[in-house]
Amino acid sequence: MASASSIAASIASKTKTKKKHFVAQKVKLFRASDPLLSVLMWGVNHSINELSHVQIPIMLMPDDFKAYSKIKVDNHLFNKENMPSHFKFKEYCPLVFRNLRERFGIDDQDFSNSLTRSAPLNSEAQGRSGARFHTSYDKRYVIKTISSEDVAEMHNILKKYHQFIVECHGNTLLPQFLGMYRLTVDGDETYMIVTRNVFSHRLSVYKKYDLKGSTVAREASDKEKAKELPTYKDNDFINDGQKIYIDEENKKMFLEKLRKDVELFLLMLSFKCCLTNCQCFLAQLKLMDYSLLVGIHDVERAEQEEVESEDNEAEEEGESDGGGVGTPPDSPSNTLDSTKPLPPGEFDPAIDVYAIKSNDSAPRKEIYFMAVIDILQHYDAKKKAAHAAKTVKHGAGAEISTVNPEQYSKRFYDFITTILS
Ligand SMILES: *[C@@H]1O[C@H](CO)[C@@H](O)[C@H](O)[C@H]1NC(C)=O
Ligand SMILES: *[C@@H]1O[C@H](CO)[C@@H](O)[C@H](O)[C@H]1NC(C)=O
Repeated sequence: MASASSIAASIASKTKTKKKHFVAQKVKLFRASDPLLSVLMWGVNHSINELSHVQIPIMLMPDDFKAYSKIKVDNHLFNKENMPSHFKFKEYCPLVFRNLRERFGIDDQDFSNSLTRSAPLNSEAQGRSGARFHTSYDKRYVIKTISSEDVAEMHNILKKYHQFIVECHGNTLLPQFLGMYRLTVDGDETYMIVTRNVFSHRLSVYKKYDLKGSTVAREASDKEKAKELPTYKDNDFINDGQKIYIDEENKKMFLEKLRKDVELFLLMLSFKCCLTNCQCFLAQLKLMDYSLLVGIHDVERAEQEEVESEDNEAEEEGESDGGGVGTPPDSPSNTLDSTKPLPPGEFDPAIDVYAIKSNDSAPRKEIYFMAVIDILQHYDAKKKAAHAAKTVKHGAGAEISTVNPEQYSKRFYDFITTILS
């Protein structure tokens, strides 16, 4: 238990100044429309500051995968309009996630700035309905609200995940897990996980698909299609005659990465219990549900849209201390570490790590963003029931989206292979 000011004081005396991207912030307050987001901002700022005083260990220990840090803030009088006066912030496995961030090439101070310089934005751009999503104001990170079961599942897989990330040198299409937190406000606990945005922080996506390799009940509903950026599915992809035009080398690299992700990580995960105990049967039944998220950026179309919205942006850019709720400084020229703005359709592969350019025979110049999402799948009775129902409806041989992990991964990989050729 500690008050915010005493922590601030104890940290201020030890603050390091080495961070190259660190620019003295004008922002003094964590202002967000939702108190939960203010607490997230406070917590990330606190956590990254604390971690900067913790030496980087030579290697992670088994206990680091169970560790957490917790802080309870009472009578947080400062910034009372925006922050609840009582809240708790818990970070899971701080050293593990710091190590992961480093392996994914993310500087801790940049990470903190992205999440705290301005309030995260509401987003429905990714994932299935039900979960709440935000992106950091600069759109580099996605913040997903998850369940306590997801937190437990994350703990179950974290060691294997970390080991896999070490082995593949962070070069993966799996989600980049960067931090996991529990926020307690008014006695309500909310769990959040931060990942790298699959889509670009600056190149807009005009069409997106969630692909699983199943064709049963895999099309966007009319309600979904009415959205500004609907999530289309497998059948839509096929019926649209959608093509992903990438050259041979990129295709080979992409599929090789995907194969490793699926075979060496996702498939292995589902059978982990078999070696050690009698839960083998349950583990085999564990239902997988991951997808390939595909986003398409059309270079000319985006240029057109930029010209049209330029006037509005110019007005918004005027005054921005980074704290405003309605005017996030999300144009690239306002980010902390921006260098020169890139020409249209260009990207920095160190930031937009999933981006692939269209090949020379593509009818339009496009950029594709493709990565695996929704890998946290704990045993779920509802899905099992759905499986049973679908089996009855379509017969045991029908292509259903809920099948055993081995079938699932094979069907998934085969489908992605076909859509790329
Ligand atoms: C962020 O953390 C630092 C160090 O703990 C503290 O000095 C600073 O006041 C915090 N920022 C805010 C807005 O609370
Ligand atoms: C571009 O991609 C399409 C679709 O995958 C493929 O058919 C074509 O051969 C590719 N062209 C080049 C030049 O790589």
